[in-house]
Amino acid sequence: MEKLFINGSVPLKGEITVNGAKNSSLPILACALLCEGTTCIHNCPELSDVDATVKILTHLGCRVSREGSDITVCTDGCCRCDVPDSLMSEMRSSIVFLGAILARCRSARLSFPGGCELGPRPIDLHLAALRRLGAQIDETGGTLDCKCDRGLCGNTVTLSFPSVGATENTMIAAAAASGRTVIQNAAREPEICDLADFLNKAGAQIYGSGESTIIIDGVPKLHGCEHTVIPDRIEAATFMAASAVTGGDLIIRDVVPRHLQPVIPVFEQAGCDIKCLQNIITVKSPARLGPFKCIRTLPYPGFPTDAQAIVMAASTVAQGTSIFIENIFDSRYKHTHELRRMGAEIKTEGRMAVVQGVDHLTGTGVTATDLRGGAALVVAGLCAHGQTAIGGLNLLDRGYAHLARRLRGVGADIERRAPDA
Ligand code: EPZ
Repeated sequence: MEKLFINGSVPLKGEITVNGAKNSSLPILACALLCEGTTCIHNCPELSDVDATVKILTHLGCRVSREGSDITVCTDGCCRCDVPDSLMSEMRSSIVFLGAILARCRSARLSFPGGCELGPRPIDLHLAALRRLGAQIDETGGTLDCKCDRGLCGNTVTLSFPSVGATENTMIAAAAASGRTVIQNAAREPEICDLADFLNKAGAQIYGSGESTIIIDGVPKLHGCEHTVIPDRIEAATFMAASAVTGGDLIIRDVVPRHLQPVIPVFEQAGCDIKCLQNIITVKSPARLGPFKCIRTLPYPGFPTDAQAIVMAASTVAQGTSIFIENIFDSRYKHTHELRRMGAEIKTEGRMAVVQGVDHLTGTGVTATDLRGGAALVVAGLCAHGQTAIGGLNLLDRGYAHLARRLRGVGADIERRAPDA
């Protein structure tokens, strides 16, 4: 199995470009199922999660082709409404197909998506929302048997938590339902707006995305269209942390600075000089970071849970004490065990983690515990003394394409290879 080998303490300098957003590509690709004819989606990142989504579209009978970051989906041959366990278990967020399949086929059969490295990943909000739109859902035996013989009907859906996935599933299902759907307490993430933009290009009538109340007036059908996925704000945050921990001076291209508003002040508070110009963010970093004080993860526009591990890695070598409170997932501190093995001083208690900055980390063999935990280990390896060898790259490949090559492009001493025999 390949590993990432990083010799740390090299200040990163130069320009690095952010890829399209994984968490936008996945729901938009699923939603393409609802569009008649051919849809072309640009700026799709080369990730294993995107590959898993393409596999499901192909299984359902769509013709999917890929050229670089462009993915074309033709739904003329769509003939199935089931997603087998083998495909569902590859990626738990495949649940976002439920709304699209149900809306197109009036029935859907998916296996229950399991938990993942972040703990149990319930879908009760998804199912309650789809039931409000008229879906009959039988959850016995680990399989979701869903149908809506007379099609879905618009309704008011109030989410008890602004779940990203449940908001996406409801938007997609409601787009082709009859009548008006109002989603209250909707998620406000940029990826929700991107999905709404895509759906409106396909003929949907969606208003208010990005706010807590979204209105969807269902239309009889959606047509193929072209769309370019927004940049990945979490990948951008990862590069910001990489600059911050190495005393670097990075120009990060193809970003939407507005999407990083919850993250930028955190790095400024720790001593980074950050400038935003149109689709560029520059990050000039001090020789040593100040404390990150207190970071609470919250739904957007709060600090993103996906950046928690990444920023925590940076805080391990900052001055003073940094505090993290993880409010979104029950089990999102697994990366702390690996960071401690590199010399980090981290104490966790329930949702809280307290990090006491140390002078430096020491490279050693570590293993990614989940996607963003793996990214945290890369950030830690970039500033550690000596060599860090990171395993579990299958988890990292879910969310970062060609990471070693791209970081080498800004001066990192990093390579991806099989361990020496
Ligand atoms: C999306 O997951 C992202 N994934 C996650 O990114 C991200 O961490 C998360 O949103 C929060 O921003 C994709 O977009 C593919 P949620 P999602 O539904 O939709 C609970 C990454 O690293 N909940 O907003 O699954 C849930 O257990 C990934 O790129 C219910 O209780 O997140 C969690 O505690 C990781 N019932 C909280 O809500 C439900 O029916 C947030 O979940 C649904 C969710």
